[in-house]
Amino acid sequence: MDMQKILVVDDAEINREMLREFLEIDYTVETAADGEQAIGKLRAQHGEIAALLLDLHMPQADGFAVIAQMREQGWMDRIPVLIISSEDSVEVENQCFELGVADFIHRPFVDSIVKNRVKNNIEFFYCKNQLERKLERQSVVLRRQEQIIRIQAEQLSAAESFNRLMMEYRSAIMEVETRLKVLNAMFSEQYKRNPFESIKSRLKKPESIYKKLVRKELPVTVENIEEHIADVAGLRVICSFPDDIYRLAELLPKQDDIILLKKKDYIREPKSNGYRSLHLIVSVPVFLPDEKKYMKAEVQFRTIAMDFWASLEHKLKYKKDIENTEEIEEQLKACADSIEALDYQMQEIRDKIYETRAASPAAGDAASMY
Ligand code: GTP
Ligand code: MG
Repeated sequence: MDMQKILVVDDAEINREMLREFLEIDYTVETAADGEQAIGKLRAQHGEIAALLLDLHMPQADGFAVIAQMREQGWMDRIPVLIISSEDSVEVENQCFELGVADFIHRPFVDSIVKNRVKNNIEFFYCKNQLERKLERQSVVLRRQEQIIRIQAEQLSAAESFNRLMMEYRSAIMEVETRLKVLNAMFSEQYKRNPFESIKSRLKKPESIYKKLVRKELPVTVENIEEHIADVAGLRVICSFPDDIYRLAELLPKQDDIILLKKKDYIREPKSNGYRSLHLIVSVPVFLPDEKKYMKAEVQFRTIAMDFWASLEHKLKYKKDIENTEEIEEQLKACADSIEALDYQMQEIRDKIYETRAASPAAGDAASMY
């Protein structure tokens, strides 16, 4: 192992040589004859110097100038400074300790005392520095842990408000569902048949919400979900006949606390793939323990046959490994057109049946399975 380096700074050559003689068995000894030289050597080698033996009274830059430089550079924390001055005033000695000097070696120099003091101070500084580095590392780890905890806490509180929002959307689904069911009941009372077959509902999955916001290049926040995603609460109303769709889609927003935000009529204007449905984005009041809050919901109305079609077509969209996609798309388009024709044909038949029914009131009633 390389020997540690000691820098001896004294203007008296005899002192430098005496100390070199004592120490060179255990250390590499560098010397400097004044403060200027000492600062130069420290500048070049401060990383290698294990201890500094420093005289106070020297011409030009004295020991205090060296200490001032070392303090400025932050070297005092790492290199023990041992004063080798003949200075024996208590005030000066105290002043040196206050400046961060590690120890005093008084003259006349005694071999064993010099060696022990140097050795002890080097060891002490080594331990002190190790400890400081360990503490530094620990505080870095602690700071990182604190940061993680802060982030997790933020996520948790975000999750809390997210969970609350999802509960509000769930309530919106229940609210719209109830309104539709009431309409269905009233309608069946009046016309002796149900305008819709069933209602399906779903709450948009967090993953889909996240992806939609990312696609819109918006930060994932509760506020952005509410403002920019209209289909977190989703309902699908499956009707028997096209005219039931329009009747329901007209009646629902007529309720005075429901606001119609958007209407997309893919029945009158089908999509190029053949998709036919009526979409409403509504705002519906939800009564929470502490407030009444308007929530958005997407309501899709379509016929039974069209629902069957849409679920098959949806599978095509998500299956990436299908061959002859174009051919399938054409077939689906043809099916959608046939479905439309069939839906209207069925509607005509229904009307004929009901005309006949009106003539003979004993036929059929709403309590049956149909
Ligand atoms: P999204 O971002 O997907 O919500 O679409 P959008 O904002 O353009 O609204 P749009 O009213 O066009 O579609 C809303 C929803 O209707 C979709 O999420 C689907 O559930 C359904 N939909 C729309 N177009 C199609 C289609 O071509 N095929 C099928 N199977 N479903 C469709
Ligand atoms: Mg959608």
